[in-house]
Amino acid sequence: MKIFHISAECYPIAKVGGLADVVGALPKYQNGLGHSSSVIMPFYDNKFTQSNSFTTVYKDQIDFNGSQISFKILKTTDDVLDFNTFFVDIPELLFKDYVYSTDDTDRFLAFQIATLNWILTLQALPEIIHCHDHHTGLIPFMLQESFRYKTLNTIPVVTTIHNAQYQGWFSYDKLHLIPEFDLNKTGLLDWDNSINPLATAIKCAWRVTTVSPSYMEELKLEANGLQDLLKHESNKCVGILNGIDTAVWNPETDHYIEENYSINTVEIGKLANKLALCKTFDLDATKPLIAFIGRLVYEKGADVFPSALEKALEDKNCSVLVLGSGNAEAEAALLQLKAKNKGYYNTFIGYDEKLSHNIYAGADFLLMPSRVEPCGLNQLYALRYGTIPVVRSIGGLKDTVVDISKKGGFGISHEQVTVEEIYQAIKRSVDLYHKTTIFKSLTKHIMTIDHSWHVSANAYINLYQSLKK
Ligand code: ADP
Ligand code: GLC
Repeated sequence: MKIFHISAECYPIAKVGGLADVVGALPKYQNGLGHSSSVIMPFYDNKFTQSNSFTTVYKDQIDFNGSQISFKILKTTDDVLDFNTFFVDIPELLFKDYVYSTDDTDRFLAFQIATLNWILTLQALPEIIHCHDHHTGLIPFMLQESFRYKTLNTIPVVTTIHNAQYQGWFSYDKLHLIPEFDLNKTGLLDWDNSINPLATAIKCAWRVTTVSPSYMEELKLEANGLQDLLKHESNKCVGILNGIDTAVWNPETDHYIEENYSINTVEIGKLANKLALCKTFDLDATKPLIAFIGRLVYEKGADVFPSALEKALEDKNCSVLVLGSGNAEAEAALLQLKAKNKGYYNTFIGYDEKLSHNIYAGADFLLMPSRVEPCGLNQLYALRYGTIPVVRSIGGLKDTVVDISKKGGFGISHEQVTVEEIYQAIKRSVDLYHKTTIFKSLTKHIMTIDHSWHVSANAYINLYQSLKK
């Protein structure tokens, strides 16, 4: 099957969060199943585009906001990526040193229009168009309603919601930017008197997926205003759990980490990584090392967990390392903890891919006190690296982490995002660490849990196949 994924992010080209990891892995696994899966994404001004050369495969113009804007479709000249990736180059709108900013509406609208204009010219059309998140949320509408794309309206289109908090809404002042359609259909774009690309995608896509089954159920109760719409459209909605790219996330071959290890050498391997990490960050390596990696936002519990860390650090029985950036208050709270807890606590405010790998490899526990977690990849990487996840039981975390108090349990989970519950979860982690035999056997066990894309790549293919006439 010929599949086009359309996305704002794709690892290793441009990554802000888990969306990039998914779009950078799923096509690879779909190709492994014998399909032809490609990615279409914006051409940003970043390290990847600066260090590779590109060939133009198509050149045209779009009519946008009253002017003609040139665009190109590019491919890398050399075979440096694992699957076909087409870059939409619109210099004045997309070629920026950021992925997201305040000008997203125009940028991603132009991206979607240029993408469809190009697809219109292809000899061999895709058999499935798979859109990711609100940045591509108007594609299902344009395919169905814009006169210009009439000949494409038989291509099944799937939208995956990676995060329903962000919906990309904008005002009707920009309605004219959308290629001409029957204005009686404007209602399809509308949610609460604005144009809401995520709501539009839910209405117009042939199928809507979320990145875990529990998240789909949760969204029908609370989806930042879209819960009733999801309930209404529930017969075309399904949750498919994300997988991980086990070639990128493999402690045996990971070139970022201090020492590679397998299930047989996990004890000494993790210790070597922990020692190196603790040395770099001046942490006591004789204590259990508890880490956090992620965006410091409300959804991830960033307003609460610094206080829980503060409380846990008063017990002086663990070391803590935080990698993240985001909310200024959370960043300040985390930095403030440094002075009082020298030798036991450190934080790196920023984004650092290499360091994240080192933390998955060197930490004993990974903390994820999320309020909302559509899937969460961190806990899956942690499992693969023999690091025990300590999670709030929600969304994908609920679907992938079983508390040690339950039969077959291997992680630590809590129900509420409160200082006290996060603190208690940390305390339980410290206790578990000292039950050395159980701790060591759990570390080995979690490395055997298979969360590779093999299963879910197939689930998407089955979904696509059910849409073929
Ligand atoms: P989300 O997409 O909501 O941020 P996920 O758990 O799906 O959450 O994915 C987060 C991804 O981003 C993981 O690959 C994680 O390792 C990475 N990540 C998050 N914050 C950082 C950071 N500060 N430095 C390096 N990697 C990070
Ligand atoms: C989103 C979600 C995260 C999920 C990721 C990949 O960013 O917040 O939970 O893992 O997308 O699907």
